[in-house]
Amino acid sequence: GRAGAVGAVGAAMSVFVTRRIPAEGLRVLSQASGCRVHQWDSEEPVPRAELLSGVAGKHGLLCLLSDRIDREVLEAAGPGLKVISTMSVGFDHLALEEIKKRGIRVGYTPDVLTDATAELSVALLLAVCRRLPEAVEQVKNGGWTTWKPLWMCGYGLSDSTVGIIGLGRIGQAVARRLKPFGVKKFLYTGSRPKPENAAEFEAEFVPLMRLAEESDFVVVTCALTPATQEMCNKDFFSRMKKTSVFINTSRGAVVNQEDLYDALAHGQIAAAGLDVTTPEPLPTDHPLLSLKNCVILPHIGSATYATRSTMAVLAASNLLAGLRGEPMPHELLL
Ligand code: NDP
Ligand code: DGY
Repeated sequence: GRAGAVGAVGAAMSVFVTRRIPAEGLRVLSQASGCRVHQWDSEEPVPRAELLSGVAGKHGLLCLLSDRIDREVLEAAGPGLKVISTMSVGFDHLALEEIKKRGIRVGYTPDVLTDATAELSVALLLAVCRRLPEAVEQVKNGGWTTWKPLWMCGYGLSDSTVGIIGLGRIGQAVARRLKPFGVKKFLYTGSRPKPENAAEFEAEFVPLMRLAEESDFVVVTCALTPATQEMCNKDFFSRMKKTSVFINTSRGAVVNQEDLYDALAHGQIAAAGLDVTTPEPLPTDHPLLSLKNCVILPHIGSATYATRSTMAVLAASNLLAGLRGEPMPHELLL
């Protein structure tokens, strides 16, 4: 095995799981020989104090995107912590520099949630551009009086330009699903052109502001990094067309929400759909929730039964492999 690993299969190892997870995932851990599982067995997030005490002395940590794993947690864990496995593809909640310094390995869950998240992104886009939540409400509240030529109109994808911020796994899966709707042109932006990702869609790499100016639909599917934090701000929204729709299924902090509110409230852009916000949950009295042209979902991108089960099994398998000093099915190389 790799130096610093807990040891051979069967050697005692203890892990802390920060939430109730799909049973298939927990079973992988509880059936592994010599693996002692401690768990915050609740639907609700582990309170910080319970996280700090729960992780103390453990070799492995299986966490979620709602757990901030920073220096305080690593210090509370102590030098025995060898592996952190997050049941997510996003890793902006992990203090990677601190983790790397300590030689801790990290597992995550790419690929297995790409289809589910792309599907949800498309569902949200269609719901927003064709005003589905508003329309459903009209049926219930008597606003539907007759068929009207100018009522409840929105924007369709035919002949449109779609701009994708971050043409990674999920961004490409979104483009693949949108293409058959008759999209005319795909634009994308990122840290550098990715011809291998773009070829299938003949997508053109453009600067962020050109993407804002030319897109009828902007879809954000990038990772949250210092470079992407609040990338969609006043400057960005002011470049967008009044008829354009903004969709974010990446992380809330990519968007400056005050600037988005202003753009939506003043008709600078047509509408927005968000699966992710800051904070999460968004307070129920948040100004964005008062807007008819803003649809907000509670971070359900990967929420199919099958996907969540697969994510849990992968997170558990990553954790075990790391503890055994073996290659992980999906290791985040630091
Ligand atoms: P990938 O790593 O495959 O894609 C991330 C993309 O972000 C890359 O294409 C990367 O492009 C791009 N990116 C990085 N920096 C920038 C930048 N400065 N400007 C524009 N783009 C940038 O990850 P996935 O597609 O698997 O996942 C993407 C994100 O989606 C996750 O990090 C997570 O936060 C979020 N997510 C949300 C879910 C939900 O439930 N709503 C579900 C799953 C994921 P480049 O390589 O050119 O830098
Ligand atoms: C992730 O995995 O990063 C998503 O936000 C939830 O599946």
